[in-house]
Amino acid sequence: MTIEIDLTGKNALVTGAARGIGRASAILLAKAGADVAVSDILYEGVQETAEAIGGRPAIRCDLGDPDQITGMCDRVLAELGGVDILVNCGAIVAYGRGIGAFEPDEWDRVLDVNLRGTYLTCRGLVENMKQRRDGRIINFSSLAAHVGGIETAMHYVASKAGIIGFTRSLAKECGPFGITVNALAPGVILTPPVRKQVAGREADYIPTIPLRRLGESRDVANVVVFLASPLASYLTGLVVDVNGGQFMK
Ligand SMILES: NC(=O)c1ccc[n+]([C@@H]2O[C@H](COP(=O)([O-])OP(=O)(O)OC[C@H]3O[C@@H](n4cnc5c(N)ncnc54)[C@H](O)[C@@H]3O)[C@@H](O)[C@H]2O)c1
Repeated sequence: MTIEIDLTGKNALVTGAARGIGRASAILLAKAGADVAVSDILYEGVQETAEAIGGRPAIRCDLGDPDQITGMCDRVLAELGGVDILVNCGAIVAYGRGIGAFEPDEWDRVLDVNLRGTYLTCRGLVENMKQRRDGRIINFSSLAAHVGGIETAMHYVASKAGIIGFTRSLAKECGPFGITVNALAPGVILTPPVRKQVAGREADYIPTIPLRRLGESRDVANVVVFLASPLASYLTGLVVDVNGGQFMK
């Protein structure tokens, strides 16, 4: 028996799709047959992703701006007629250890983009999913939420811990409507901000990872597609760790 993931006929929105995990997820969802809309604050990058999947025009959206999120959700509902798969990948990845490592307005910005942005995007699309009694929501937490961050900053850690509680709460609300809501918690994945941060120190990390390699965006995108697929229809409220075994719970 061959098992294939076929998302033909499904509409998806991926935020944070200009690069890294978001771009890899958008490309893989499109390869699986989904009609994928992509958004990001980095317009040039997200346009490249849109061109790579040969699909719809990219959407510029700052997830820290509620009006822009409303505009993105309205546009996606108008153009796609509904969203079956929502991947909330866009986030500010912030480094720096200690409570004094950043200013309070940076705390607000990171929480606004990472946590409120995810909440508002879900809020903008979930009613449509409820009406159609179908949907997959995939939020992005982090290994940092479990371990208090390795190098990432406290506001980032707090935002990613918040995503776990938000995901579970929304999963309980949406379950009766046939909508699953799960979170991914990647470990150390070699995307642009992480590559820059760990450059020259990869050898320090590798012994801490049982699978003995740092992650690639594709490792996470594979799990996004699995969670979006019929194979994952009985999973909700989960936090799926994609970390090569670096943290086990
Ligand atoms: N790479 C890792 O090791 C790792 C680990 C744990 C969690 N994550 C999470 O995975 C997701 C993807 O991260 P990544 O490593 O690919 O990082 P990345 O920086 O390459 O991708 C994040 C994307 O979000 C976009 N973004 C940033 N601010 C935005 C805003 N205000 N509005 C809209 N978009 C915005 C960026 O432009 C970028 O394209 C994030 O949610 C991140 O927290 C990554």
